[in-house]
Amino acid sequence: MTRQIKIFDTTLRDGEQSPGCSMNKTEKVEIAHQLEKLGVDIIEAGFAISSKGDFESIEAIASEIKTSTVCSLCRAVKPDIIAAAESIKKAQLQRIHTFIATSPIHMEYKLKMSPDQVLEAAVGAVTMAKGFVEDIEFSCEDAGRSDKDFLVKVFTEVIKAGATTLNVPDTVGYQTPEEFGALIKYLADNVIGIENVDISVHCHDDLGLATANALSGVLNGANQIECTINGIGERAGNTSLEEVVMALKTREDHYKCQTRINTKEIMKTSRLVSHITGSYVQANKAIVGANAFAHEAGIHQDGILKQKRTYEIMDAEMIGLSENKLVLGKHSGRHAFSEKLKELGYELVGDDLNKAFARFKSIADKKKEVLEEDLHAIVSDETHKLEETYTFKQMTVISDSKTPPKATVTLEKEGKELSDSCEGAGSVDAIYTTIKSILGEDIKLVDYSIHSVTRGTDALGDVTVRIRDNDRIYTGRGSSTDVLQASAKAYVMAINKMLTGRKYKRIKPTS
Ligand code: KIV
Ligand code: ZN
Repeated sequence: MTRQIKIFDTTLRDGEQSPGCSMNKTEKVEIAHQLEKLGVDIIEAGFAISSKGDFESIEAIASEIKTSTVCSLCRAVKPDIIAAAESIKKAQLQRIHTFIATSPIHMEYKLKMSPDQVLEAAVGAVTMAKGFVEDIEFSCEDAGRSDKDFLVKVFTEVIKAGATTLNVPDTVGYQTPEEFGALIKYLADNVIGIENVDISVHCHDDLGLATANALSGVLNGANQIECTINGIGERAGNTSLEEVVMALKTREDHYKCQTRINTKEIMKTSRLVSHITGSYVQANKAIVGANAFAHEAGIHQDGILKQKRTYEIMDAEMIGLSENKLVLGKHSGRHAFSEKLKELGYELVGDDLNKAFARFKSIADKKKEVLEEDLHAIVSDETHKLEETYTFKQMTVISDSKTPPKATVTLEKEGKELSDSCEGAGSVDAIYTTIKSILGEDIKLVDYSIHSVTRGTDALGDVTVRIRDNDRIYTGRGSSTDVLQASAKAYVMAINKMLTGRKYKRIKPTS
């Protein structure tokens, strides 16, 4: 018999905890819509008490998402639970997720609480949360290093208090697949009442075992997997959604499980999260990496041509990938452009369509071929409605081999144009120095990288920059056939995010 596995996506909460991956409300809402389209059962939208920005993002997601449950995280304390309940009030399907650590090291050093006090707080939190909503998830943080019988005791008591999902996190990614599977089995065999609730697994990837551990949990009775798109998350990240989903699908003969995920939306979701967070997917990443379906060796290519299954265990189309075809040229009209976008899964209308079409035209003028990858980049760039304090208007850079490069940049703020010119050690340095001078503020650049979206010297260059503002990192991304323009746009985007971010203070979700 095939079991149904719930997919709980925590890209917007645990994923956002990766350095440099913080997202604003607009970005989170956009990702939440895509997660709903992907078919995730539960969207963990954030940690309501952590900041005003997080609270408002969860609220916005709760009012817009209809078919996925919207979940809000809280520690096992009263103000957190109230904030979580308040943040999801408008959701059609609501869940509160409350947690407290149960491992000896966390209880003694972090919480400074005895096991009895932790048990009391856990039961109290679930009882209180149950007063707000029916669907309650409870997590024993650091379950992977907790005493098994203490876990049995806590989980048994929280079920009595009304928990409907028991989550077992391997918070520090310490478990092996055999140990983690055995732990899930032990809980399934010993927790009283567990047959009436869902068992969830939440694994971190510190030893590269997050996917294996989650799947081992499933084989031993878990029916919910917590995961993130592209595996982003604290430190080495979380179980990646695309990996567990495709493992369950491709090896249904072994796992005998199904999910509700529309796998054709995987690639699009991966691209969106990568674009918004600025965190690139490594080329050899399973399922969504650029090389995941590429065959380089002659023997492999020959085999593939003779019979696809010689070297391919899945079809690229299953995750929504199609060949990187030449799609449109400079004579293509607005209708053809919008039809092609529909084929790629983008329903653009009004201003978004106008902006994307104008951008396509200007790229088609410069670039011989406009490929699907280019269209994904254009849509990502042109449809992100971020709060913009500064708008990039124009720029000139003079660079020769004898004198230092000099940039002149014009930005717009509240309808007023602001321009300046500065020299720099290189062209990008000159541009960034000029922008800093316009702002009248030093900006700490912590990372700058450039990728080519497709091949050829006329390819779109995709620039990602990260800047630091106190303890927060903001990411900006921009693409253009001119890498200097892409660099300027990415920098201005990161600065705008920083200025929005300064309105919100944040605390980290640990007890
Ligand atoms: O890793 C962890 O323990 C968590 C909990 C809050 C579920 O993210
Ligand atoms: Zn986690």
